[in-house]
Amino acid sequence: MSSRTTGSVTVTLDGTNRSATLPLLSGTLGPQVVDIRKLYNELGIFTYDPGYGATASCESQITYIDGDAGVLLYRGYPIEQLAERSDFIEVAYLLMYGELPTKAQLAEFERGVTRHTMLHEQIRRFYDGFRRDAHPMAVMCGVVGAMSAFYHDSLDINDPEQRRIAAFRLIAKVPTIAAWAYKYANGQPFMYPRNELKYAENFLYMLNAVPAEDYRVSPVLARAMDRILVLHADHEQNASTSTVRLAGSTGANPYACIAAGIAALWGPAHGGANEAVLKMLGEIGHPKNIPDFIRRVKAKDSNVRLMGFGHRVYKNLDPRAKIMRQTCHEVLAELGIKDEPLLDLAMELERIALEDEYFVSRKLYPNVDFYSGIILKAMGIPTSMFTVIFAVARTVGWVSQWKEMIEDPSQRIGRPRQVYSGPAQRDYRPIEARG
Ligand code: CMC
Repeated sequence: MSSRTTGSVTVTLDGTNRSATLPLLSGTLGPQVVDIRKLYNELGIFTYDPGYGATASCESQITYIDGDAGVLLYRGYPIEQLAERSDFIEVAYLLMYGELPTKAQLAEFERGVTRHTMLHEQIRRFYDGFRRDAHPMAVMCGVVGAMSAFYHDSLDINDPEQRRIAAFRLIAKVPTIAAWAYKYANGQPFMYPRNELKYAENFLYMLNAVPAEDYRVSPVLARAMDRILVLHADHEQNASTSTVRLAGSTGANPYACIAAGIAALWGPAHGGANEAVLKMLGEIGHPKNIPDFIRRVKAKDSNVRLMGFGHRVYKNLDPRAKIMRQTCHEVLAELGIKDEPLLDLAMELERIALEDEYFVSRKLYPNVDFYSGIILKAMGIPTSMFTVIFAVARTVGWVSQWKEMIEDPSQRIGRPRQVYSGPAQRDYRPIEARG
């Protein structure tokens, strides 16, 4: 890894003459970080940062976010340029290998991914164990985790070739797993992948086609899906990526690690927010109800949040939200949807929130999930699949971060400490002597 020591910080324990001088490290961009690894040995103290708001958990060369400026870079390239000019497979290569591919490299990578799009035939039967009304994210957690029971030849994380194959398998198979989760809920036959189609196109094909008739994927929808995948492909050390890294740090196999990431993504504070936004818009129902909803959000201890707003890192407009909003208008126009009440409602909600002192003072802006659900709904995708699509996109980010971690020679098991505030040591008392 390549951060440099550019200074030091001295920590002194008040009331003692004990102090520790700790290195200050600089990466390419972003704030300097204090390397606290010697702190416990030298002063016998830990650091405390619940929620990791001020903690760099690793060194990474993949994604950079400047939350104040609203900047997102994949391997140095602005997300706006990638969303406009690249596509998901090229972005996947970039995230995995660090550079944009040549034509030959891209063709070989795409061939590598498409070779692995089918699932082991036995996995089909695995689906039958789920109830038809299972949430597709539950199916995703289960089936992706079960891949470790099917692909025994790519479980050795110390073998670079096995790591490479596992990465390809995961990226190639998640759309098939996701589409089959959807088909299973619908009671429709599973559609096998079509390798002549591009990644996003093939995913839409497996979601929407049926064997009874020909199905041609709309290029507009394929482009919109591709852009959604690009925008969600990686996002630095977020909750699900950190989960993948923590699971991976124990030496767990890649399929198990990505299943752990999917589980973490499911929550409404993270990837589940796109589903929650649509539920929220449905509950608000009409622009006239917005002031009352905003009052409920602002009420102390109400536990009601404006879903799709706010972010741990962005204290400015999420750059992905800007692109999503634009894509949303484009998709609706292309689909000939002139009047989409949900979009009108979302835009009015955004306008009111952005003028409201509560949201302004807390720097709460729309995030990527605010508009993605409206696009997906217009594309005919049911709400329960929204987070699944996020998981399909993020798999490449998880795999790239996992690979980077395993290949880092300084990698150790992730093992945070705590401030213990439970009872001090005490003696066991027999039940007769209690109460
Ligand atoms: N609606 C209302 N108030 C909010 C919201 C919101 N969406 N988000 C934050 N706040 C308030 C919060 O109540 C707190 O106020 P106070 O200082 O008075 O207690 C303040 O803003 C800071 O909030 P926080 O919970 O400390 O912020 P956080 O960094 O821990 O949480 C977040 C970040 C994304 C979990 C949160 O903003 C949130 O719950 N947003 C809604 C869910 C959402 O849209 N999530 C998607 C995130 S982007 C995609 C992804 O990462 O997967």
